[in-house]
Amino acid sequence: MRPAVERANNMDEKRKVMLSGIQPSGDLTLGSYLGAIKTWAERAEQFDCYYFMADLHSLTSRQVPADLRRRTLEQMAQYVACGLDPDKNTLFIQSHVPAHAELGWILNCYTMFGELSRMTQFKEKSAKNADNVNGGLFTYPALMAADILLYQPDYVPVGGDQKQHVELTRDVAHRFNGIYGDVFKIPEPYIPKVGARVMDLLEPTKKMSKSDKTGNGRVCLMDDPADIMRKFKRAVTDSDTGENCVRYDPENKPGVANLMQIYASCTGRDYDQITAEFAGHGYGDFKAAVGEAVVETLRPIREESQRLIKDKAYLEDLCRTGAEKASYVANKTLRKVRKKVGLVAMP
Ligand code: TRP
Repeated sequence: MRPAVERANNMDEKRKVMLSGIQPSGDLTLGSYLGAIKTWAERAEQFDCYYFMADLHSLTSRQVPADLRRRTLEQMAQYVACGLDPDKNTLFIQSHVPAHAELGWILNCYTMFGELSRMTQFKEKSAKNADNVNGGLFTYPALMAADILLYQPDYVPVGGDQKQHVELTRDVAHRFNGIYGDVFKIPEPYIPKVGARVMDLLEPTKKMSKSDKTGNGRVCLMDDPADIMRKFKRAVTDSDTGENCVRYDPENKPGVANLMQIYASCTGRDYDQITAEFAGHGYGDFKAAVGEAVVETLRPIREESQRLIKDKAYLEDLCRTGAEKASYVANKTLRKVRKKVGLVAMP
């Protein structure tokens, strides 16, 4: 095995473990980057981090097979292009580590019908997709519990919508440990320190979403510069024409506040500096400057992602190495579980 693998698998007691899964269900946006991914690279200095593409979870809603495959690999490449070093983090595709599906089944048998029925996300998703309320959608939290518990993490960084699933994971782990002794570490949800909360460019009171259909209110990591400039030129502001119309007032000027936040995040300037910079200028100049700052921020990410996606050998190696590192840790937990519940060891 290579040094990186040994390093990751070397049980260094002091380093805390962090794990998170991301469904490859939409293209990553400027909001995903400035709000979250940008801060992930530096986490690796402090934590052992696992990030996986939750492709098995994506199957709970109907996918176009070729699109799912493309997005899964594309997301993997994008994370690397955003600065996640694959030697310092464990990046892998969920379905490449069969232990997830296997422990998922076992944990299904320790997760109660009543618990699953109470999950807000299940209720919402089944109301929205009434024609495809499948078993996987219902038992999804048991698979998520398996994803987490296999790696014995200390922290699971999730957004508010996933907190309930992490709570359920803790309940299932307690139940299992109560029967069989200490098998699983009890993980804590980790609400990451917030980066920018980027809003939709056309509806600045709504968060920029990767599943938004129209596309003009959001900027994707792979958008080309002309598209980005066009979207910023059309961004909603307000009818203020004063000398200092570029000033931070999220309550009364949400569109301008959003653009200032994006500009601040891309250039490192603070709001007072931005107001001074655009004193006497109208929104036209300001929006063009924000667009340019975003173009320059995303350019290296887009170019690097494109380069990686074309490099089939590199991507394959990335997937293989990640899956090997992950499997080593996951299989250790799975062997313990199999023994505890009474499955015959594989000869
Ligand atoms: N359910 C998560 C989401 O939809 C994705 C996910 C799957 C996940 N397994 C996980 C997140 C394990 C954290 C830990 O966003």
